[in-house]
Amino acid sequence: MNRVRLINSIIQKANFKKYLEIGTRSGTSLYAVNCKNKIAIDPNFIIPKLEKLKRKVFDIKNGRKTHYFEMTSDDFFEKKKNSLKNSAL
Ligand SMILES: C[S@@+](CC[C@H](N)C(=O)[O-])C[C@H]1O[C@@H](n2cnc3c(N)ncnc32)[C@H](O)[C@@H]1O
Repeated sequence: MNRVRLINSIIQKANFKKYLEIGTRSGTSLYAVNCKNKIAIDPNFIIPKLEKLKRKVFDIKNGRKTHYFEMTSDDFFEKKKNSLKNSAL
């Protein structure tokens, strides 16, 4: 079982609604994970605009949301951790 299948299996079994990924880069693992709300953190995303747009359309069609934070995980937890409690995330 690869890591994405393992993550998806855990999400499905536990019925998790949020997935937070530190280090997303191009989104290979992010986009393969099935979860209602996804939070992606990376100081250097390399996701082409068109790909991001396609994923946004997919999210809208499937009642999902993906939030991108272009920063280090240290900055995220220092400045944005309260947003994790926000039900919109
Ligand atoms: C190997 S890539 C991630 C690959 C991705 N998870 C996948 O499987 O497709 C590692 C990423 O971690 C990011 N990164 C490095 N230091 C980081 C930090 N302190 N906080 C968040 N992301 C970081 C890098 O910018 C890089 O894009």
